[in-house]
Amino acid sequence: MPEFLTVDILFVIAVIYFSPHILISFPLILLIIVSSTILLNFVGQKRRKELAEIKSIVYNIRKNIYSSPQEIILSGNLKNLQEEIRLMFEKSKNDIEYLKRLERMRTEFLANVSHELRTPIFAIQGYIETLQNGALNDPNVNTYFLEKANQHTTNLNNLLNDLIDISMIESGEMRMSFRYFNINEYMKNIVAELLPTAEDKGLELIYQPVNDKLQLFGDKNKLRQVMINLIQNSIKYTESGKVEVLVKEEAKFGEIIIRDTGIGIPKEDLDRIFERFYRVDKARSRAVGGTGLGLAIAKHIIEAHGSKIEVKSVVDEGSEFSFKLKK
Ligand SMILES: Nc1ncnc2c1ncn2[C@@H]1O[C@H](COP(=O)(O)OP(=O)(O)OP(=O)(O)O)[C@@H](O)[C@H]1O
Ligand SMILES: [Mg+2]
Repeated sequence: MPEFLTVDILFVIAVIYFSPHILISFPLILLIIVSSTILLNFVGQKRRKELAEIKSIVYNIRKNIYSSPQEIILSGNLKNLQEEIRLMFEKSKNDIEYLKRLERMRTEFLANVSHELRTPIFAIQGYIETLQNGALNDPNVNTYFLEKANQHTTNLNNLLNDLIDISMIESGEMRMSFRYFNINEYMKNIVAELLPTAEDKGLELIYQPVNDKLQLFGDKNKLRQVMINLIQNSIKYTESGKVEVLVKEEAKFGEIIIRDTGIGIPKEDLDRIFERFYRVDKARSRAVGGTGLGLAIAKHIIEAHGSKIEVKSVVDEGSEFSFKLKK
């Protein structure tokens, strides 16, 4: 019950109680009732107006009429509510934007995956058809076509493995197993494994050994994938010169650096190379067997180590990728 009505009732009782003559109190009671009704009506009208104002704001929000929270304006007593409604409007707008962005990413991802799958499948189909149409009996080309088809099968397999990794990472299923390991021995083995690939291209691949006792903390298997991708990238995107791998020992961590004298990466692409499927030069990357997932996976793995991959690059001079691991 509104406060003024309680006051009215109490007043009426008081008048009846204290009035010496009951007849005098009647006009007084009548006056009170009439004035209360007028007051009630006035307050009711005000509330109805406020409700209509709120209703129109809610309607406008529902119909997407506002483009910014500042357009939501309430009057008088409703000013208190204005800020809350503005905040609510902003939050729902951000939530919707986020969902739309996710949806866009999902569509893009699917389009990229289908495109990347189609490329090797079409190539394999093409080689098989050519062989079936007579090339099988031509000793000049048959083994070449078979080798090509086989190479595309390897690409397809690599792509599927990368996709499995990405989906494990994004669904939070990537299990890490952190241990201390001897970084010198570890790097020597990886570099030795990739040496033939570098030599095939006439590149020098150099590992500068570090303190033989240095132990770093990380997941050896996952880090191997990162190192291999970074070194392979340097080899793939370097036409002449060298690829250097070094470990710098600092007080609390070791920094792994992979440096090349390759084609470099334009400034405007530097921020994007860690995105899934992003390649600076798609045609060139595909020609060297890349799908643009390597750095996206590497970024996730290094972040799971509480660290970050850094990149510096100058077009036509070379690139340097680095990250730190705890000692
Ligand atoms: N050392 C480098 N020098 C020049 N460009 C590089 C280098 N490393 C990466 N890039 C550029 O960044 C892109 C993304 O690299 P990423 O490793 O993710 O993909 P990829 O090597 O093309 O394919 P994948 O690693 O999936 O086989 C490459 O396509 C290339 O354009
Ligand atoms: Mg790569």
